Amino acid sequence: MSRTISFVNQKGGVGKSTSVVNVGAFLAAHGKSVLIVDLDPQANSTSGMGVDPYQIEWNLYHVLTNGLLPEEAIRKTGVNGLDLLPSSTSLAGAGIELVTQPNREFRLREALSRVSTNYDYILIDSPPSLGLLTINGLVASDFIVIPVQCEYYALEGIGHLLKTIELIRDNLGHNVSVLGAVLTMYDKRNRLNRDVVKEMNRNFPGRVFNSVIPRCVSLAEAPSFGKTILQYDLYSKGGKAYRQLAEEILGLENVGGPEIPIAAEAVAEESILNTEDINSLESEDGVVATEASNNFVDVEIVTTLAVAEEVPDFQNQNLENSNEVSLEENIKQI
Ligand SMILES: Nc1ncnc2c1ncn2[C@@H]1O[C@H](COP(=O)(O)OP(=O)(O)O)[C@@H](O)[C@H]1O
Ligand SMILES: [Mg+2]
Repeated sequence: MSRTISFVNQKGGVGKSTSVVNVGAFLAAHGKSVLIVDLDPQANSTSGMGVDPYQIEWNLYHVLTNGLLPEEAIRKTGVNGLDLLPSSTSLAGAGIELVTQPNREFRLREALSRVSTNYDYILIDSPPSLGLLTINGLVASDFIVIPVQCEYYALEGIGHLLKTIELIRDNLGHNVSVLGAVLTMYDKRNRLNRDVVKEMNRNFPGRVFNSVIPRCVSLAEAPSFGKTILQYDLYSKGGKAYRQLAEEILGLENVGGPEIPIAAEAVAEESILNTEDINSLESEDGVVATEASNNFVDVEIVTTLAVAEEVPDFQNQNLENSNEVSLEENIKQI
């Protein structure tokens, strides 16, 4: 059964594209058939996989607006088993052109339904907004993963995202489940980063992946070579972390599914860190970790996820079965 997962957070620079590309690479290395859909006009995951968005004839824009068959635009990448439905800057226009079109929220879903049987996983890299493109991604998805940068404003906007999911459920009749949040760009020397990890786990119990992605130079460098971390620096800290994250996601294969409801409910709570906390925070090297802002207390909702009882806590899932295919064997072939 194919599973479609949107990596979504309306903030830019939190690690969505990096996560999509590298989770996709490790799922493929585990023998899964994977399609990455680049839904962001910035085309970061397209170029990050070595495809020049300016050199390709067909891309997702043509699929969404001109009725091009997705198989015409999908291409292979340098990683076996990992395909790409590329983006280009013209995709920005699709967000506007679609507004007046019938079925405007369902365009991507309809297109992907033509190819979904070819894939075990379809990973969607969302743009940094909650506009029509992102909504097309959510409507096409069974699950979302929320990359969250380990920083002061980490939770800002998540309430809005979860509200959007509720609106999609209520108005468009499509249920998207939250698979989990993944913490990115973690620096263990920074006390603020450590506190954000603790607070995320407190606010989203059972919904934060165990794998925390460290800040890692190789992860930042790899896209400039058009490579995934698997090809560029497999044994770096970042490579190990994304491998672990992909294995956690694989471990969920037999858990839940689109038919099992996970209610995403915005619940009013106090913000995770108040201004006083942040003023007192200094990283260990003495540099103030981040700018404190009184505005932060204006963030009125921090959310917790109400998880339906029948959905097991995936942090306790046994991951043993996920390694049926030898990763090392597959990597050798890449
Ligand atoms: N774990 C990490 N360590 C170091 N740099 C990272 C890491 N994750 C992402 N980056 C870099 O941070 C920037 C933003 O990441 P990106 O994945 O493009 O975020 P988004 O897609 O959410 O906008 C990029 O330059 C990327 O290379
Ligand atoms: Mg991106």
